[in-house]
Amino acid sequence: MSPKRPKVGVTRRLPATVESALREKYEVVQAAEDHALTLDELASLLRSCEVVVPTVTDRIDARLLSAKDVKAKLLANFGVGTNHIDLDAAKSAGIAVTNTPDVLTEDTADLAITLMLAVMRRVGEGERLVRSGKWDGWTPTQMLGRRLSGKALGVVGLGRIGRAVATRAENGFGMKVLAWSRSKRRGSEAGTRIERVNRIDELMERSDVVSVHCPLVPTTRHLIGAPQFAKMRRTGVLINTARGPVVDEAALVAALEAGKLAGAGLDVYEEEPTVHPGLLSREDVVLLPHLGSATVETREAMGMRALANIDAHIAGRDLPDRVS
Ligand code: 8YV
Repeated sequence: MSPKRPKVGVTRRLPATVESALREKYEVVQAAEDHALTLDELASLLRSCEVVVPTVTDRIDARLLSAKDVKAKLLANFGVGTNHIDLDAAKSAGIAVTNTPDVLTEDTADLAITLMLAVMRRVGEGERLVRSGKWDGWTPTQMLGRRLSGKALGVVGLGRIGRAVATRAENGFGMKVLAWSRSKRRGSEAGTRIERVNRIDELMERSDVVSVHCPLVPTTRHLIGAPQFAKMRRTGVLINTARGPVVDEAALVAALEAGKLAGAGLDVYEEEPTVHPGLLSREDVVLLPHLGSATVETREAMGMRALANIDAHIAGRDLPDRVS
């Protein structure tokens, strides 16, 4: 008789290559149809599986984690952000948490640059015009945007993705890069031309484009709100590919309405999948459905990285991507 394989609960349908790789080694418990799991469904996976693979759509809170009958010993998150998991509660319950860093850095950075160009060059607006059938031909002054090249970029959060965006901005677009992060070290970054600033307000004042790349933790919730929008250039643009609640969405709408900035490019929202109605109606914002890491290459790599963490856990080895 073959030995019993450990049970791995997977909350969403993953790329086929990832699912096959998981099924080769583990007994995978997964809904046939892809949907965001209910609390009951999550609780049931936590009760029945040694490992659970959650995603950003699963809110794994203290109540779920502290239930007496939880069997899970590892949450191998499919994604780098873990703000949807109560890490303290997981620790108290003796459940390890891992994530999938590195593999999504380049594609997420590409998407931030895509949004910068889309907002500055009015891509969404132009596309809507053509599709509406109302475009009546070229004119010298039609839909003039603004140039990205040579402008100042302010990076909020200088982790892997923030640095990858800075590299693209400097090398591809000749931009001056300023950066602010919670570690707040002033001066230039060793080996780069990035200038660190001490105050986020200074970054808002001096940047043509501000791009958010910090994790969502209690100290970054609404990090960018009305006081920060008041500091922005009227031609300034805000990009957020990190987490929605880092930006106060209602304050963003008010600032756009008051002309305190010229536009925004958003991939993430405060209450996904709900989007503030004040954003939906504006031509000067570009809105994407949380696509940062959405390439075949990255999603497969994320799955394989989660699998590497599961393998390490099952073999009793150190977890490569433990989140503390
Ligand atoms: C993922 C992300 O698609 O990894 C992250 O933190 O935001 C996205 O790129 C999502 O989180 C998957 O769970």
